[in-house]
Amino acid sequence: MKNIIVGQSGGPTSVINSSIAGVYKKAKELGYDHVYGMVNGIEGFLNDNIIDLDDYLSNDENYELLKRTPSAFLGSCRYKLPKFEDDPDTYKKIFELLEKHEIESLLYTGGNDSMDTVKMLSDYAKENGKSQKFFGVPKTIDNDLPITDHCPGYGSCAKYIATSLKEIIRDNESFNKSRLTVCIVEIMGRHAGWLTAAAALAKDDNCSGVDAIYLPEDTFDLDEFLNRVKTLAETKSSIVIAVSEGIQTADGKFVCELGADDRAVDAFGHKQLSGCASTLCNIVAKETGLKTRAIEFSTLQRAASHLASLTDINEAEAVGARAVEEVNKGNTGMMVTIQRVSEDPYKSETDVYDIHDIANVEKKIPDEWIDKENKQMTEEFIKYARPLIIGELLPIFKDGVPTHLVRK
Ligand code: F6P
Repeated sequence: MKNIIVGQSGGPTSVINSSIAGVYKKAKELGYDHVYGMVNGIEGFLNDNIIDLDDYLSNDENYELLKRTPSAFLGSCRYKLPKFEDDPDTYKKIFELLEKHEIESLLYTGGNDSMDTVKMLSDYAKENGKSQKFFGVPKTIDNDLPITDHCPGYGSCAKYIATSLKEIIRDNESFNKSRLTVCIVEIMGRHAGWLTAAAALAKDDNCSGVDAIYLPEDTFDLDEFLNRVKTLAETKSSIVIAVSEGIQTADGKFVCELGADDRAVDAFGHKQLSGCASTLCNIVAKETGLKTRAIEFSTLQRAASHLASLTDINEAEAVGARAVEEVNKGNTGMMVTIQRVSEDPYKSETDVYDIHDIANVEKKIPDEWIDKENKQMTEEFIKYARPLIIGELLPIFKDGVPTHLVRK
């Protein structure tokens, strides 16, 4: 028997399922008997909760539907694999289950924390003479994995952000100056501002773009922010500002905490960051008397498969396929990366890299791509991000809404 298993971990994206599709197709091409999926990542696997993807993907119609289905088809988890020294039984269990199902290789889609799981399992296998292979499949809307040019999931989320901001700006411009609204839009991305920076892509020949972009890479100064709003309000009839959920003041406090109590913390110690747009709106209203509106893109931005980028979908499928090719060749302890091989026309290829240099490392936006004085992004950033949002794959509509592939 030649079997392989794939799991999804961390926050979903609108193209993570395309990676599962890519894994399945390539594994079947290479003659794997069973392509299993973990239900709810490694946490579900530990409870022997797996499905056979043949039950879903052996017909082309479902395969195409999966590529248009947002979120994690297999179910995800935020599970921190303990260190072997602290909990040897968990490792014993994982390898027993791999042996029970005759699984040669385990692929894991995820971001920084999930790559740590791949690292720990591949290290354990090497050190203990186990033959199973482990490979990372990159996925995160946050775009903060190092080495890879970008991460599957980012382009689609960026496309949603650029499109929605353009629509918000259009709406906000409807009234004249006497009804000026300060609209503050909060965007995900934790400690890296890649997604918030995508607000810059709203600007084109028929849209003047957002008035300011506040990134976690730049210390947030409340006085500077209020002065900027007041200055803009002197001349403009519409103000739209993009802020990252992760902006912090000089003393290391998250802006979302300025107006609220302690945040919930997940298994990796990450605080839940949300509410900075409403916190800032309250402050602006109090300090200036201006009308404000807080918009939190929240889940919408990472689940918007109706607006996914075709470039992103294709790359997500390609990284899944490449991971299968690699483990099939006997490689382990690595992650698939995306390399930009041509700027114009944009072209990318997959490559691989040692997981030890990737797990737990967060890639921030280079300083030279941020115009800190004007709170905007530079042309270099636009050149980097624009190709990633290009192309569409329309949903399959049923009764007026997109239809999805779901587990039975
Ligand atoms: O890591 C992806 C991400 O979407 C972050 O951008 C965000 O801060 C976080 O997940 C939200 O986590 P949750 O879905 O657990 O609230």
